[in-house]
Amino acid sequence: MREDRFVWVMQPDFLLAPSQLSLFEKALEDLQNHRPIQYIIGETHFGSLSLKVREEVLIPRPETLELVHWVCEVARQFPHEIHILDIGTGSGCIPISLGLALPNAALTAIDVSEKAIGLATENAALYHQDIAFVQADVLLLDQLPQSYDMIVSNPPYVRELEKKEMSRNVLDYEPALALYVPDSDPLIFYRKIAHLAQQSLKQGGALFFEINEYLGEETNYLLSQLGFRDCEIRKDIFGKDRMIKAIK
Ligand SMILES: C[S@@+](CC[C@H](N)C(=O)[O-])C[C@H]1O[C@@H](n2cnc3c(N)ncnc32)[C@H](O)[C@@H]1O
Repeated sequence: MREDRFVWVMQPDFLLAPSQLSLFEKALEDLQNHRPIQYIIGETHFGSLSLKVREEVLIPRPETLELVHWVCEVARQFPHEIHILDIGTGSGCIPISLGLALPNAALTAIDVSEKAIGLATENAALYHQDIAFVQADVLLLDQLPQSYDMIVSNPPYVRELEKKEMSRNVLDYEPALALYVPDSDPLIFYRKIAHLAQQSLKQGGALFFEINEYLGEETNYLLSQLGFRDCEIRKDIFGKDRMIKAIK
């Protein structure tokens, strides 16, 4: 591909075929309408991975990669096979990265969205990762499929009131299901997942969340109230409270 680009530059007389030109024109129009480039080309990068993305599924963010690195740091301290669950898997970026980094990990991933589960399955196949994908609404679950050493989640956490800070590429194109929570109960997913984790996380197991930068203290308080210990908040590369770890 790189070679192709080089060849094009070296040929000033190179002309695109009309069908190729119309693709470019359509892409330009889409960009002017704020459609994310990742949806236009159908691909995004997550660390060293190239993942497929489609409009119905959230484009993975670099902050989430920082969460993955933290999970790996802790997971490497487990000498035996470890069972890890990802809740709200979207493109599958979290379990695929964990699977590649941790040969001793057995991975399960849940999402309510059929489109997300379909895409995550395609992405896992690209990287030959054997991940058990489950379509389920975590808010309706009474219990998790089995017990785990670690549970990780980047759940929806943007309050409606924060929409005014957001740009059109996110507001107009990314799935609301993946992003928003009611202003009246912004920690709805954290509370539910923490309750489920109280039953299904092994003693000494770790719960990791990506968090809303404005709700770090509230999330910390919630997890402590639910009996988790050693809660630790970490900031992302932009200096914002972005992730939390808690131990059962
Ligand atoms: C913020 S996105 C995270 C996606 C992916 N893990 C990432 O980091 O890019 C939240 C995900 O949670 C899923 N989700 C929303 N509500 C859910 C529910 N009730 N049960 C399970 N998954 C849900 C969405 O479909 C979406 O894929």
